Amino acid sequence: MSWRDSERRRRAFRVMVKARVEAERRLGLTARGKRRLARLRPTKLSWLASVYGSDKGVTAHQYVDLYEQILAPHRREYTRVLEIGIYKGASILMWREFFPNAEIFGLDIESVEVPGPRITTLQGDQSAPDTIERLRALGPFDLIVDDGSHKAEHILASFAGLYDSVKPGGWYVIEDMQTAYAEKGYNGGPPGHPDTAASLVKSLVDAVNRDEIAPYYPDAAAALPRVAEMHVHPRVTFIRRGGT
Ligand SMILES: C[S@@+](CC[C@H](N)C(=O)[O-])C[C@H]1O[C@@H](n2cnc3c(N)ncnc32)[C@H](O)[C@@H]1O
Repeated sequence: MSWRDSERRRRAFRVMVKARVEAERRLGLTARGKRRLARLRPTKLSWLASVYGSDKGVTAHQYVDLYEQILAPHRREYTRVLEIGIYKGASILMWREFFPNAEIFGLDIESVEVPGPRITTLQGDQSAPDTIERLRALGPFDLIVDDGSHKAEHILASFAGLYDSVKPGGWYVIEDMQTAYAEKGYNGGPPGHPDTAASLVKSLVDAVNRDEIAPYYPDAAAALPRVAEMHVHPRVTFIRRGGT
């Protein structure tokens, strides 16, 4: 295994990032200071995650390298990005830097303000039909990220209501899929448990093969969403919308 892919490199990187985050905390950077620091490497998501303190970074969930690999080639073309789950706004700020031409929308059940240009925050429950209607009116989106409650029924309701608000070729991402296996608090269960994010992703394997199913079962094919491809990784799934 090369040094680039080694666990030793990842460990060393984590130690460096932790030290830098701690140094920045001690410096007590203002929002303006963070923005200045972010601009030093606006294309590097692991850098932006640590500057803004997002748990998508290498010190926690480690999603940033995947996001970068998949989204970086077209990041300048993105004009509308929605994230469900704002918390303190770290990832919203990270996306704003990474997608320099996009309006960034954030939804949270709590009232959260993230001031600044190109950012709009909304309050609402991700599973409520009226919230979904409000979000649909803001689309279509190049990217939708579900990092909200992580409850099975909420993930399914958001996906059912919002997936066709993703532009063809755009991405719908479901984070923290491990909650599909957690009964307490998330209504998940063992593998095979129905109505979880994992069962949704499994059913989308048929959707990826929609055109192949059509000659045999046209009605079944027509009922499937348009999915061009999926990347299933530990804890996170990337779904690219098909169609034209
Ligand atoms: C993991 S945090 C989001 C972190 C943020 N995306 C980041 O990376 O910095 C999850 C957020 O989802 C919000 N949330 C919980 N239930 C929700 C719901 N039903 N609808 C919308 N947001 C919800 C919580 O208030 C919390 O702020």
